Amino acid sequence: MTRGNDLQSRFYTSFDGSALMSFVQKLVGLSEEERRGLDSFLGEGFHFQSFEYKAPSLPMAVNLAKSSFLRQGDVALSRWKKAMEIARTMEQVSLIPPMEIISGKNYLAVVMPKGDVLPRNRERKIDDLLRDTAKALSQVGLALDDYPQLREALGVPFIIDWSDLNFVT
Ligand SMILES: Nc1ncnc2c1ncn2[C@@H]1O[C@H](COP(=O)(O)OP(=O)(O)OP(=O)(O)O)[C@@H](O)[C@H]1O
Ligand SMILES: [Mg+2]
Repeated sequence: MTRGNDLQSRFYTSFDGSALMSFVQKLVGLSEEERRGLDSFLGEGFHFQSFEYKAPSLPMAVNLAKSSFLRQGDVALSRWKKAMEIARTMEQVSLIPPMEIISGKNYLAVVMPKGDVLPRNRERKIDDLLRDTAKALSQVGLALDDYPQLREALGVPFIIDWSDLNFVT
């Protein structure tokens, strides 16, 4: 089994939809400011706040969309979800981690493995994989309009920030 497949299978073995749903619901019940004080808070960007979910055999990151991301409205959000659905099922492409989206009327979360920062020297070696990933995405009409943020889990590098995934028009 390759390392990528190992990450994939560990992710799905550990993925418990209803436990994750109640984790997400607890977050949704708090304000963005209140969530920053949680022990599970990992960090945030412009569009997402990230929280650690300690699944049995693989720590996960639950990336909850902030109001700045939800504000773009239903049409843009369902386009983004459609784009994510295509990207996340391209399992053979390296740098795309196993991901699941949990969403409802007023919330949206992306669940993926929790990743560690890559050492600088390893980041440089990833240029080819970044190029392959961009090419694979473009072949299905997608582009990630952002400098890809990389992390790794079980020795497998992957992109964590998918907020700027778009259809190429
Ligand atoms: N899989 C992960 N493992 C560990 N930490 C993560 C993971 N995903 C997100 N994070 C943390 O959450 C932060 C925000 O995540 P992300 O970059 O996806 O949000 P964003 O709002 O789209 O960011 P930006 O404003 O740069 O577009 C990251 O910088 C990182 O600290
Ligand atoms: Mg982003």
